[in-house]
Amino acid sequence: MAKIGSKKNKTQNQTTSANNDKFKSDIYHQLFEIGKRLLTESEVNKLLYSAMDEAIQISGAERGMIILFDETNQIQFQTARNINKEEIKNPEFEVSRTIINTVKKDKEPIYLQNALEKSEYMKKESVKKLQLLSVICLPLIHQKKLFGVVYLDNRTFAGIFQPDTCQFVNEFANFISLAAYQALERKKLQSHVNELEKELRGKYKFESIIGHHPKMMEILKLVSQVADTDATVLIQGETGTGKELIARALHYNSKRKDKPFVPVNCGAIPEPLLESELFGHVRGAFTGAIKDKAGWFEVANYGTIFLDEINDMSPALQVRLLRVLQTGEYSQVGSTEICYCDVRVVSASSKKLQQLIKVGEFRDELYYRLNVIEIELPPLRERRSDIPLLFKHFLNFYNKKCNKSVSRLSSETETLLQAYSFPGNVRELENIIQRAVTLAENNFIESHLLPTSVRGEQTTVSETTKQLTLIEAKRSAAKKAEIDFIKECLQATSGHISNAAKMAGMDVGNFHRIITRHKIDVSVFKSPSKSNFNNTD
Ligand SMILES: Nc1ncnc2c1ncn2[C@@H]1O[C@H](COP(=O)(O)OP(=O)(O)OP(=O)(O)O)[C@@H](O)[C@H]1O
Ligand SMILES: [Mg+2]
Repeated sequence: MAKIGSKKNKTQNQTTSANNDKFKSDIYHQLFEIGKRLLTESEVNKLLYSAMDEAIQISGAERGMIILFDETNQIQFQTARNINKEEIKNPEFEVSRTIINTVKKDKEPIYLQNALEKSEYMKKESVKKLQLLSVICLPLIHQKKLFGVVYLDNRTFAGIFQPDTCQFVNEFANFISLAAYQALERKKLQSHVNELEKELRGKYKFESIIGHHPKMMEILKLVSQVADTDATVLIQGETGTGKELIARALHYNSKRKDKPFVPVNCGAIPEPLLESELFGHVRGAFTGAIKDKAGWFEVANYGTIFLDEINDMSPALQVRLLRVLQTGEYSQVGSTEICYCDVRVVSASSKKLQQLIKVGEFRDELYYRLNVIEIELPPLRERRSDIPLLFKHFLNFYNKKCNKSVSRLSSETETLLQAYSFPGNVRELENIIQRAVTLAENNFIESHLLPTSVRGEQTTVSETTKQLTLIEAKRSAAKKAEIDFIKECLQATSGHISNAAKMAGMDVGNFHRIITRHKIDVSVFKSPSKSNFNNTD
C-alpha cells in the first residue's frame, strides 16, 4: 500500500507530473478496492478494525481511533489502534478528546499540521507531554446526520498530513461512513430478526398448539411424524384455523429449524410481482428492476418456504412451481441461468384444491406434488370442546402482555360465547379475548366487552332471557336429532337393539342408555311376533 504524504512519495511526486497522475490514479484505485472490501464486510467490529488499519496505512498516521455513536449520542462502537483503553481516559488524551468533541459538535473535519503551534492547544499539558503534532479528525456522516468520527494522529512528525493526504483520507472516510452505516443497519436488523425469531420459537413451539379434540390430536401426531422429513405438506382449512401455526411447527421441529422459514402469501401479491418475488429477478428484467434481487426461494435455501393461499396462484406460475418441486431448479425473471435450491415446500389453502382442479383452476399434477402429506384443519365449531382450553391459553397470554389479571367470565359472557359459531375460528376467538382483556376494568369479562358480532348473533334477541331461549332451542334441536336418529336405526333393524347399536356406530350399553334417557319404546319397532299376534287375537 502506498502511503500518501510520506517523504518518499513526495519526492516521487515531484519527479514528473505524469508520475504524479499515475500515483494518484493508483491510490484512487486502491481506495476503490478498499472501499469495496469494506462495503461487503457485515460485522461492525471487523469492519472498523480493517478500516482503521487501512486509514493508518493511507495516511502514515501513528495511531487512530474510530468511534460510532448511537441515536442518544452515546458511544456504540470504538476501535483504536496503538491507543489502549486506559490511555483514552488519561489526562494526556485530553486534546484528542477536545478535538473529537469539536468535530462531533461542528460536523466539520479538523486537520492540524502541528498542534503545538495552535494557540488553543499549545498550552495543554497533553500536547506538550505527548508531543501531539499531526492530527486529522473527520466526521462520519450519513444523510446529513453525524454518527461517528475517525481520529488519526502522529506524535513524532509535524506536517505529516499534507493536503493530498487529507483529501484522500477524507474520501476514505466517506467509504467508512457508508460501510459502517450499512453494517450498523444490518446489525440492527439482525438483532430485530433474532428477537422475532426468539418470539416465534416461543410462540410456535409444538406445545403452543392448543387442542385436545381427537381431530387435533390426530393432526398433532401426524405433524410430529412428518416434521423431520422433506415431504411436501398441504394444509387446508378455513381462515383462522391455525394453518400457519402448523406450518411453523413443521419447520421448527425439523432439521431445517436453524435455516429460514419464509412465509409468502400468494393471494396478497399481484400476479406479475409474485413471480419475481418467488424467483427473484436480474437487473433490467422489467421497468423498475434497477438491480438484481434475490427471490424467496433463494432466501429460503435449506429452510422451508410456506406458500399460503396457494389456491390464488396463476396457472403460469403453477407450472414454474411444479418445476422447482420436481427438480429444485428455477431461473430468475429476465435470466436463462439455472439456479438450484434445497427448500421444503409447505403450502396452505382456504379453498378445497380438488374443487379448483375440477373447474380447471388448479393443476392436478401440482396438487399431487404439494400434498404428499395432507392436513385438514377442522373449524372451531367442529371442536367446540377446545374452546375453553384456547380461551384459557389466550387469557394467560394477553394478561401477561397487558399486565392484567382477568380470570373469569360473567355468566352472560359465557352464555354468549357458548352459543357463538366462531366463523373466524381460533383467530376470532383470540381477537375477542385480546380485545376484552385490553378493555377489562375488573378481573372478569362482562358481555359488553364482547364485539357486536358475538352479541349480534342474537340480533333479534337482545335480553339474556331470550338468548337462553335460543340456547335451549339449540339443545332441543340436538335432542330431537338424536331421538330421530336412534328411532331410524331401530326402525331399520326392526327393533333389534344390538344391530341398531352397530348401525349407529355405538356400543350396546351406550345405545341402551340413550334409549332409556329418551324413554323410547323399542317394542313399537319390533315386527309383530306370534305371541303378540296371539295376544291380539
Ligand atoms: N390450535 C391453536 N392453538 C393456539 N393458537 C392457535 C391455534 N390455532 C390458531 N391459533 C392462533 O390463531 C391465529 C390464527 O392462526 P393462523 O394464522 O395459523 O391461521 P390461518 O389458518 O393461517 O389463517 P388464515 O387462513 O386467515 O391465514 C394465530 O394467532 C394463531 O397463533
Ligand atoms: Mg394464514
